[in-house]
Amino acid sequence: MKLTNRSPVAAPGRVLLALLCGAGLWGVRVAAAAKPKDAPAEGVTVEAEAGAAGKETPEQRDARMAWWRDAKFGLFLHWGVYAVPAGKYGSETNYGEWIMRSATIPVATYREFAAQFNPVKYDPMRWAQLAQDAGMKYIVITSKHHDGFALYPSAASKWNIADATPYKKDLLGPLVSAAHDAGLKIGFYYSQAQDWNNPGGAKSGFKEGEGWDAAHKGDYDAYLKKVAEPQVRELLTRYPIDILWWDTPMYMDAKRIAPFAALLGLRPGLVTNNRLGGSFGGDTATPEQFVPVTGYKGDWETCMTMNRHWGYNAYDQDWKSSADLIRKLADICAKGGNFLLNIGPTAEGEFPPACVERLRDMGRWLRVNGAAIYGTRAGPFVQLSWGTATRKGGKLFLHVFDWPADGKLKVPLKNEAKSAALLVAPEKPLAVTRESERLVISVPPAAPDAVDSVVVLELEGEPVTLPLPTVGAQAKASAEQKGSEAANVFDGTSAKRWRAPANVKSATLEIALAQPATIAGFGLDEPDVWPRMRQAYTLEVAEGEGWRKLAGGPTDGHGLKKNLTPVTAQKFRLTMTCEKGAPGVAELQLYRAE
Ligand code: GLC
Repeated sequence: MKLTNRSPVAAPGRVLLALLCGAGLWGVRVAAAAKPKDAPAEGVTVEAEAGAAGKETPEQRDARMAWWRDAKFGLFLHWGVYAVPAGKYGSETNYGEWIMRSATIPVATYREFAAQFNPVKYDPMRWAQLAQDAGMKYIVITSKHHDGFALYPSAASKWNIADATPYKKDLLGPLVSAAHDAGLKIGFYYSQAQDWNNPGGAKSGFKEGEGWDAAHKGDYDAYLKKVAEPQVRELLTRYPIDILWWDTPMYMDAKRIAPFAALLGLRPGLVTNNRLGGSFGGDTATPEQFVPVTGYKGDWETCMTMNRHWGYNAYDQDWKSSADLIRKLADICAKGGNFLLNIGPTAEGEFPPACVERLRDMGRWLRVNGAAIYGTRAGPFVQLSWGTATRKGGKLFLHVFDWPADGKLKVPLKNEAKSAALLVAPEKPLAVTRESERLVISVPPAAPDAVDSVVVLELEGEPVTLPLPTVGAQAKASAEQKGSEAANVFDGTSAKRWRAPANVKSATLEIALAQPATIAGFGLDEPDVWPRMRQAYTLEVAEGEGWRKLAGGPTDGHGLKKNLTPVTAQKFRLTMTCEKGAPGVAELQLYRAE
């Protein structure tokens, strides 16, 4: 079996791994990650647990989460000895931080990389400065990833920076200080369950206590007691961190998570994510490598790579553009989330130039438009064909990606406007008129920013949006599971879904709107189960006696949103086919033109 870590979506090995794991690791993690906190799914209890410090009142929780909710944009760093092979093992160049597992490298061989891990160019002040200049407000760095290597001198395992590398010094402490000096918050990622070096640590795709090397054999609970728990204690007592970011909770049940949850009490105020395991909800949901179509309730953070790997890969030049990243940031904020954007530094201790370039571009945009990001909350719209919208109190920040050619920006709101202006020209009011159920803002012919131009709209009262045409619609499925009926696709949340029975590979959903409407776009939210189900969709409109195709193709496992050439009709049909598992969607939305 050959495994790569190209991207979770493209890694077929993980499908198999999930089955091999038995514990349903990935399903648990991602279901927990993705669901709104009030919506447990697939046997997972996602509790709105009191955070780090145990039980707390909603007010205490709001106070603890305040900085994080306002911060919006953070830097994720995946750094470790995997930066030495830099993505390549044998002739394969598609590895990242999973290289040891994916290429099944024996422990002794992998440890040899540590001799070359000597990041003499590491300059934590420069890293903090780059993050700050990019407009980022916090950093999360791997203190130990799945390869078990600790980036700080740990008394619990010799497999650490001080004992196993020529560098011999702590990497984490200086970054914590540099971040705090720069006014940034900082946290640690810690792989509590998977550890591919220390005996007994969980090895993805293997039974408890086993691995691909004789040196792996050991007792999982002994590993937790002797390595993971002491290390978490070291991290929480030695460093004044603000976040603890767990990952891949293999075999973590209620009994095993309890000591870790208790350790969190060592640092009151800490923010922690939902990947510790079992029913531990943590503070933040963690959609990975995607922006959830309709957002989630509660606190959430999309983590994402700039290319296709988390750890440094010298051969992966498949970079997302700065424009794409800026728009993703705006869209995540418009849905109420944070953006944790990743860089994999080199073994010498530098950020790849392509990453620095993207940080600079994002910083340049944020210096002008930061008011439309920081401290904002989800905007009132589920969809805007021309962009997205964030909100701060009575102000809406309209992020216009596609500048209107006719100079008329249409905003589907029933409220009256108090004022409108470009964010960059607050002294020049823009005329706002009403055209039946929408406001129309007259904007200058040229977009002030080619990527995302912000128009600030102040409203009278709370924003009142138009109901989606799919509200009150009827849905009839060709097949459905009990508890996952067709009607769930219009309930306004991704918590309940429509799903065909397990033996069905293709199913259709006929949709009758309450009345005919002009549809100019649609959105699909997929059930967030891992492994990705490899679904494809076809959306059709009823025409005469038959159906005409409007759109179709594969989804990426996380749903999608698309604009359509406007069509006026009452009946539509969605067909979902699924390679793995039963087809279905969590939510289907049809959008009007603004
Ligand atoms: C996954 C991967 C890991 C990466 C993480 C980031 O769980 O196992 O390599 O650290 O996601 O979210």
